[in-house]
Amino acid sequence: MKSLVIAIDGPSGAGKGTVARAVASELGYRHVDSGAMYRAVGWRAIRDGVSLEDEAAVAALAERSRIDVSNRHITIDDVDVTRAIRTPEIDRAAAAVARLPRVRSVLVERQRQMAATGAIVMEGRDIGTVVFPNADVKVYLDASPDERARRRANDPAHTGVPAAVSEVATLLTQRDELDRTRPASPLHAASDAVVVDTTGKSVEDVVQEVLRVVREHGLGDSGT
Ligand code: DC
Repeated sequence: MKSLVIAIDGPSGAGKGTVARAVASELGYRHVDSGAMYRAVGWRAIRDGVSLEDEAAVAALAERSRIDVSNRHITIDDVDVTRAIRTPEIDRAAAAVARLPRVRSVLVERQRQMAATGAIVMEGRDIGTVVFPNADVKVYLDASPDERARRRANDPAHTGVPAAVSEVATLLTQRDELDRTRPASPLHAASDAVVVDTTGKSVEDVVQEVLRVVREHGLGDSGT
């Protein structure tokens, strides 16, 4: 049976993480959160005192770092940063390093290597547009700004976020604006992506919808 490459993109709080993980688990595929790689690089740059605007230095740092996002624990050079990368400071740092084309090319190369054997669900912002333009399945998840802010405010993985949904909404909108307007690989749906609006839908409904798309697009190892 064919092992598919499944790309799931969309803005923050659209439900990519939960949905991608559930879809991967359903299919017996590997799940990769590419955003965690940008976060780990941002975290390390701050720790090492590297300016987030120094493209050559941040790219060199990314190049020499071993980043493992293959399970629920994210490590960079064996330091477990699973929780440390989910803070407002790292939200900003990740968005800053994600603007740098040379950093992107280091991480995109690694993301492509991870998919060499297929059977992967990768989530991010540019997975269907840049990383895997030939992905077997492309899904773009979206939700209303209010709903995305509510989800992010209630996300237990995200430590130290301001409790007020309105404050989260402002930060989220600013960060999305950065992701959408940056010159390097801006966030947008691939022309051949299936757009799923998750507003008001349960995780289970969205997972089933994505699995339907997977079945329609090919021969997912869903056992069905
Ligand atoms: O999905 P996330 O919030 O963990 O992503 C962190 C940052 O990295 C965010 O600003 C978007 C950026 N990112 C990116 O530019 N490309 C990706 N494939 C994944 C994330």
